[in-house]
Amino acid sequence: MTSFSFRLLEWFDQYGRHDLPWQKSKTAYRVWLSEIMLQQTQVQTVVPYFERFLEQFPSVEGLAQATEDEVLHLWTGLGYYARARNLHRAAKLVASEYGGQFPEDLEGLLRLPGVGRSTAGAILSLAMGTRAPILDGNVKRVLARHDVVAGWPGTTKTLNKLWVLAEEYTPTERVADYTQGIMDLGATLCTRSKPRCQDCPLSATCIAYRRSEQGNFPGKKPRKTLPERETVFVIFQRPDGSVLMEKRPDKGIWGGLWCFPETSHTEDLPANLTTMQGIAGESPINLEPIKHSFSHYRLIIRPILRKINRAPDTVAEVNCMQWIDPRKANNIGLPTPVTHVLETLALHQ
Ligand code: ADE
Repeated sequence: MTSFSFRLLEWFDQYGRHDLPWQKSKTAYRVWLSEIMLQQTQVQTVVPYFERFLEQFPSVEGLAQATEDEVLHLWTGLGYYARARNLHRAAKLVASEYGGQFPEDLEGLLRLPGVGRSTAGAILSLAMGTRAPILDGNVKRVLARHDVVAGWPGTTKTLNKLWVLAEEYTPTERVADYTQGIMDLGATLCTRSKPRCQDCPLSATCIAYRRSEQGNFPGKKPRKTLPERETVFVIFQRPDGSVLMEKRPDKGIWGGLWCFPETSHTEDLPANLTTMQGIAGESPINLEPIKHSFSHYRLIIRPILRKINRAPDTVAEVNCMQWIDPRKANNIGLPTPVTHVLETLALHQ
């Protein structure tokens, strides 16, 4: 037995869950029923449903003889109703094709509707004591962290790596306890947020723990690429260094914050500032573009610096604008990219 499974089993003996209703008499029927219910539902929700189901249908044959409506009625409130329809179809298949006995190998179990590789592994190990790995959401998290498996488990590549580890760590002895133990560890200690690594029997060899990178594993589903928009910040700068800024309307992005006048990248200057044209001195200077992400799009900002020789104060007053010294702009609300531009300008003065 590997040190991994030994430590896990020691922990399970002391801290694992030992009195869940499906652990009492571990028949294939009871384990299968509980595993299907637990696929997308929490333990405490499942318990009363599991008990009602068994009371109504003590055997797989009884379930096979029920009508679909009866099954769906008992399932009401558990959600993901395809599970209930598959459950019923699988029961009929076990009754008709297998004489009421669940198949005892992976291939046979995988033929049952609703049973995938992990659920089949759980039935084999928990009910039959056959060495078979499982890989539900909790186990994926434990393994991804312990061995820093990069990538999102929704991809075949990452999933395959996790299956290899699951296979490797599953012991030949006490497979039922090991299977229950690794699920319990994932559900109680190795939780998605705030894992209790201090109490974990695997922390001594957990690479994510050693690197303080528990939060990075398993990898997250990649975000859809966001649409891009472009805008131009026009930065008028007086010889004394101050720049023309404008308070944005309350509605829309950056409402109420101070910004540079904006224009589209096809136009030369903001419409309300064309009078500035006449006093603009040297040719415009293109500063480094800035990329800024919002929840629904990415904004590419092209800041253009226009140094001017003199300042028409009326512009500021009429358009609720102000000349602001970049080094002193620390008492007004500023969007992050504007802060970056101001820092750049202050550096170059
Ligand atoms: N989730 C899936 N299978 C489980 C089991 N046997 N015990 C607790 N939670 C589970």
